[in-house]
Amino acid sequence: MGGMMEKKAINPLLEQQMPTIIVTGGAGFIGTNFIRHLLDIRPGWRIVNLDALTYAGNAANLADVAPARYRFVRGDIGDETLVRGLLAEERPQAVVNFAAESHVDRSIVGPLAFVETNVLATARLLLACRNDWEEKGRPADFRFLHVSTDEVFGSLGPEGYFTETTAYDPSSPYSASKAASDHLVRAWQRTYGFPALVTNCSNNYGPYQFPEKLIPLMILNIVEEKELPVYGDGRNVRDWLYVIDHCEALATVLEKGVPGETYNIGGGAERANIDVVHQLCDLLDERLGRGPDRSSRSLIRHVSDRPGHDRRYAIDAGKIQRELGWRPRFAFEQALAATVDWYLAHGPWVDSVRSGEYRKWIDLNYGATRARADIN
Ligand code: NAD
Ligand code: DAU
Repeated sequence: MGGMMEKKAINPLLEQQMPTIIVTGGAGFIGTNFIRHLLDIRPGWRIVNLDALTYAGNAANLADVAPARYRFVRGDIGDETLVRGLLAEERPQAVVNFAAESHVDRSIVGPLAFVETNVLATARLLLACRNDWEEKGRPADFRFLHVSTDEVFGSLGPEGYFTETTAYDPSSPYSASKAASDHLVRAWQRTYGFPALVTNCSNNYGPYQFPEKLIPLMILNIVEEKELPVYGDGRNVRDWLYVIDHCEALATVLEKGVPGETYNIGGGAERANIDVVHQLCDLLDERLGRGPDRSSRSLIRHVSDRPGHDRRYAIDAGKIQRELGWRPRFAFEQALAATVDWYLAHGPWVDSVRSGEYRKWIDLNYGATRARADIN
């Protein structure tokens, strides 16, 4: 894979005997997939997972991972003493920061938690990592990879793509807090020479996604024949990427990315929300033996729109393709079907994450106050 401009691996430490990577937020959706998949495809790596286990974190996702190459530590990225101790003890070659509050709708209801985690705790993590890096004599092969989102760029019209130089223009408290964290990471790189990289990725889907997000929420509601709440007219567009493709892109950036650089990651699979919901209805009707007279599409309800709802996201992933040789492997239709099958096969996992707290959120977000939208 890779074209003529593909760069050679520039981080030889990751080729060492058994490099240790600290992953933060590894008990969430993408972090879980990253740890499971990377331990599989990088047999030399050892991973330490630092996660506070908020409502979105589930240590059981990784309960079956062999302890020889995996360690779980429960803790907050904002706890500088804990992080300094972990860095001193583990001497990692890299820190990959997934830890965040990640759901836009929750950020609208309670924005301060997003500022606390995504801005303040991230700044504390950066302080701890930079101090440790200075004390160790600024090892040239250390990397800090900050996992961010395309939502920092705001909303696109019908044409155009987000590139690495698109101006930040976030719309929600979530995306504003992620934008702030990206700026802090770049400031640490420019001011202190701290070897940090930033990635901005589009919407992920796949196994272990918490069922507050569009795709797993719709899958479970279809199975249970509940209403399918589509915000506004349903024509908002997201650029979908299978989570394993994202994980492979992050490994590529760790191994070949240049500190100080930003890489956009996207699937090139733009879909309107309503089309995704239709596809999920059809996939599940086929699997559950529901004929046309019982089509799950009849469960769709257009509900009031998300305030500040970005209309369209679309990533130009040309830089990471040209410079690092990464491109997505999975086609949307096949990976969406595999995702549906994963949720059907993992009923106990679904039951375990839909706690009382989860049900409170569903009532709050979709209850009486979210009236049906006036859509023609
Ligand atoms: P998630 O909500 O599923 O998981 C977040 C994890 O972080 C949880 O395990 C949680 O317990 C942990 N966490 C939260 N606060 C913490 C703290 N203070 N200290 C330690 N751990 C903490 O999120 P996700 O969807 O897996 O996203 C992971 C990262 O990727 C986020 O930074 C998000 O902004 C970014 N991202 C997500 C997507 C997507 O489509 N899901 C796309 C692009 C970027
Ligand atoms: O673009 C990357 C981002 O993708 C990540 O940074 C976020 O962490 C991740 O949550 C995701 O954000 P979105 O807001 O795009 O994802 P969500 O699944 O919440 O919504 C996808 C689209 O579906 C969005 O246009 C809103 C719509 N939607 C969502 C829900 C939960 C509905 O129509 N109904 C719903 O019930």
